[in-house]
Amino acid sequence: MDRTAVNLGGVAIGSSVMNASGPRSAERGELYELCAVHTGPLVFKSCNAAGLAEPENLKNKGVEHFAAIARELGPRGKILVASVIGASDGELVSVARMLDRAGVNIIELNLADDYVQRALAPFASIERLGSVIRPVREATAAVLAVKLPQKGLSIEPRRMAELMKSLGVAILVCANDLPKDLDIDIASATVAGEPRALSQVHAFDREAAGMLDIVAVGGVNTGRDAYIAHLTGAKAIQVGSALIKEGAGALGRIDRELDALLAENGKRSVSEIIGAVRFSG
Ligand SMILES: Cc1cc2nc3c(=O)[nH]c(=O)nc-3n(C[C@H](O)[C@H](O)[C@H](O)COP(=O)(O)O)c2cc1C
Repeated sequence: MDRTAVNLGGVAIGSSVMNASGPRSAERGELYELCAVHTGPLVFKSCNAAGLAEPENLKNKGVEHFAAIARELGPRGKILVASVIGASDGELVSVARMLDRAGVNIIELNLADDYVQRALAPFASIERLGSVIRPVREATAAVLAVKLPQKGLSIEPRRMAELMKSLGVAILVCANDLPKDLDIDIASATVAGEPRALSQVHAFDREAAGMLDIVAVGGVNTGRDAYIAHLTGAKAIQVGSALIKEGAGALGRIDRELDALLAENGKRSVSEIIGAVRFSG
C-alpha cells in the first residue's frame, strides 16, 4: 500500500508493517511465505554463530542458514533485516559481519533478550554499551538497529539516543508498552490528560526524535494498534503474536487496516502521523 510506505533508517520500505524477529521467521519455508505475502521488510529470527537448541525462544540454525537465505532473497529486491545474538562481543561481530556480507539491509542487534543481557551486560554502563556496539559498526556496512529491553534500562532515553547516534546506530526497536486503557481519539490524535510518555516508543520519540528512527514492537494486532504506535512516534511497527495466532496473512491484514484508517482520516502517507499525538490537558 502506497500510504504505508516509509523510509526507515535511510532504507525505503514498501510498508511500515513487518514481522517481529522470532515468530514464523526461523525456517526457510516460513521466511519464504512471509516474503511472498507482504511487501514490507522481512525480519529474520535472531541467530548466533553455530545455532542454539535452547533456550526455546532463541532456538535457531545458526548464521549460515540465514546468510544463505539472504543471498537468495536480497537479489530479488526484498528488504532484509537480520537479528543478531551472541554470547561474546566477538560472536556478535562475526555473526553481524557474515549477515552483512550476505547482503542484508539492516542488522538488528538483539540486546533485549535475557540470553544476551546475561552474557554481555551491554547496558551496564554507557562505556560498556559503546564497547559492544562499536566493533559491530566498524565491521559492517548495513544500517544498524538495536532492540532495547523493555525494562531495567538505567541510561536515560536522551543519553541513550545521543550515544546510539554517535555509534552510528540509525534505528531503535522499542517496546510498544502502551497502557491498556489508553484514552485516545484517533481522528484528532489526542490523548486525554497531561503530557506524558505513553510507552517506551513514545519516551524515545520525545527525547530522540530527529536523531534516530523508532520501530515499535509489542501488542500490535490491528491496523488501529499500528496507527496508534505511529502516532506515538514509531516509523515502523513489528508484529509477533498475531503472526503465531493467524499466520503470515496477519501482516497484509494489518497493513490494509492501517491503510484504510489513514484514508479515513485524510492522510496520504503514514509519515503524516508519525509522532503526531497531542494531549488534552
Ligand atoms: C515464539 C517467539 C519467539 C521469539 N523469538 C525472538 C527472537 O528470536 N528475537 C527477538 O528479538 N525477539 C523474539 N521474540 C520477541 C518478538 O520479536 C516480539 O518482541 C514480542 O513477541 C512482542 O511482540 P508481540 O506482542 O507482537 O508478540 C519472540 C517472541 C515469540 C513469541
